[in-house]
Amino acid sequence: MSKGKYYLTTPIYYVNAAPHIGHAYTTVAAETIARVKRMEGYDVVLTTGTDEHGTKVERAATAQGKTPGEFVDLISNEFRTQWQKLDIRIDRFQRTTNPEHGKLVNRLFEACKANGYIYKGTYTGLYAVVSESFVNDAKPGDIDPETGKPYEELTEENYFFKLSAFTHRLLEFYEQNPDFVGPEIRRNEVLAFVKQGLQDLSITRTSIKWGIPVESDPAHVFYVWFDALTTYISAIFGENRWPADLHLIGKEILRFHAVYWPAFLMAAGWPLPKRVFAHGWLLFENDKMSKSRGNIVRPTPIAEVMGVDALRYFLLREIVFGQDGSFSFDALVGRYNADLANGLGNLASRTLNMVSQYREGVIPTAEGDAGIRETATKQAALALSAYDSFDFSHALEHTWNIISGVDKFIVERAPWKLAKDQSEEAQRKLDETLYTAAEALRVVCVLASPVLPHTTQAIWTQLGNESPLETEQTESLVWGARPPERIGNISAVFPRLDPKPTIQRMQELEEAEKRRQAELLGKPAESSAPAESSAPAAVIDAPTISIDDFSKVDLRVGEVKSAENVKGADKLLHLRVDIGEAEPRTIVAGIALAYKPDQLIGRKVVIVANLQPRKLRGLTSQGMIVAASLEGGAPVLAGFHEDVPVGARLK
Ligand code: MSP
Repeated sequence: MSKGKYYLTTPIYYVNAAPHIGHAYTTVAAETIARVKRMEGYDVVLTTGTDEHGTKVERAATAQGKTPGEFVDLISNEFRTQWQKLDIRIDRFQRTTNPEHGKLVNRLFEACKANGYIYKGTYTGLYAVVSESFVNDAKPGDIDPETGKPYEELTEENYFFKLSAFTHRLLEFYEQNPDFVGPEIRRNEVLAFVKQGLQDLSITRTSIKWGIPVESDPAHVFYVWFDALTTYISAIFGENRWPADLHLIGKEILRFHAVYWPAFLMAAGWPLPKRVFAHGWLLFENDKMSKSRGNIVRPTPIAEVMGVDALRYFLLREIVFGQDGSFSFDALVGRYNADLANGLGNLASRTLNMVSQYREGVIPTAEGDAGIRETATKQAALALSAYDSFDFSHALEHTWNIISGVDKFIVERAPWKLAKDQSEEAQRKLDETLYTAAEALRVVCVLASPVLPHTTQAIWTQLGNESPLETEQTESLVWGARPPERIGNISAVFPRLDPKPTIQRMQELEEAEKRRQAELLGKPAESSAPAESSAPAAVIDAPTISIDDFSKVDLRVGEVKSAENVKGADKLLHLRVDIGEAEPRTIVAGIALAYKPDQLIGRKVVIVANLQPRKLRGLTSQGMIVAASLEGGAPVLAGFHEDVPVGARLK
């Protein structure tokens, strides 16, 4: 019987990056919660989708010679098929380009406006001309790495949302709904932010084309967040499911969900979601995953080599949900062998094989060992309550406590010895041992099924169950809930993996997937040379100059001696380039999105050596590195096919 509805969401992902393991992290966690809630008897809907508007997307499309519509179809589909490949069950997939969604965004806007919370004003900000977008984190005077000139100040007419009117109402709301934001640390951040007082928000743009038009004033399009957040309602519009029970998000988008979104809804007089839960970041070997570092991991190669469940298990067991955590291939294979192969896989195969060998495949009828029964009952309750607080790692730890309890029990009972003793007492003990192991395994299957849906189903069938495991409810966690049955055909789950070749295989597939995705996005793959297919920059009508003018430019061959990222500037690299002088030159170049520092060391490049030095992010750049600039694409450094000495002049 249904306990009622439960509606949960993941963020809708931007289409300017291809899906990676960070996106999978949220989606796997959300889908696991959906499975727990189904097991608890709720009628659950999980939505995800894609966030498809904005200048970045428009530019990426143009760079590939595609219309924005064609481009977003391609990448949105990439997300959708990724969830399919990972066997993640998504109930609704919403896209911000869905026309029905656009209508609802307009309805929300008009409702806020009718209630007096929208007004027209002017927005002034620093504007990047090449990318045609306001740069939120720049200060006046900061240099635009794409033009080498300071950002321009631009003023445009926008619609504003009166966020300032909601400071007190929001604080009151958080007070009355202490569970609205979780975990606690995030709730405190939100309270501190709102207590400072809120400023009005610009929610439309006239400088952007690729967006949902404001129906009542079509010169404007909605700015991304007002548009994006509304998918949570448009995805289930007409289904009587709003308000959502849970928005699961990463911590970097907390403010939008816990402050702006409830304020928009309060302004419109629409119901508010019940809970926003922000998890931490998934790092790669303790480092932030990013394109410039070239350390982004894709989930499908892992799933292909180790199985989807191994990936799910690792993400949810290794990292305490809510905190940051680290991914590494070594840790992934290590966990797999320790917990899945030696733990669950081993318990399943020894239990099923003993039943087959000693009792011809029939699980004997017995009471079961009181100690194991108590362990299973207690640990199952603890695991369920951990699941309910989204504490997956502890839910799994409790489940695995049952496994280790049974492992110990089997060793103590030594059924292989009991099997050789035909006395009534020994045979009764053997029955009890086999029943206890099989019943504990059944309970473990139910408990672990939200995280390991495929392998627990396989064990479930081998235990002789005919109904699908995912229809089991929490009642089936009660010890002895099911009469013992004849087991099915046995086949091992989670075979042990040899770490080295397993990791090597995954990394090979990763490389292939990285290249495929890069091609799809029309960008150079992170670790390989920039793609040749990028569109050339628009031809500039450069004035004719004399040879004397040209000879004023001191172009020199240089060799990169060191390269590092510039803190706080995604696009910049700090280089030291030897151009045949006593000391290498310091050069700050806007090439970090195209080249990793390591790739550049020892590389021969062309330097403009007599440019006036200029300060960028506290570093004095003593020259400029020459690169082809590609419209919407990454810069490509000029170089030489033959060997050239450092310091040689280009004339
Ligand atoms: N489009 C917005 C969200 C709009 S929701 C109305 C957006 N998109 S995003 O593509 O950048 O996705 C961000 C989300 O992806 C994070 O909040 C998180 O859920 C997930 N993650 C992406 N990379 C991640 C990690 N490295 N680690 C953990 N989560 C990650 O923001």
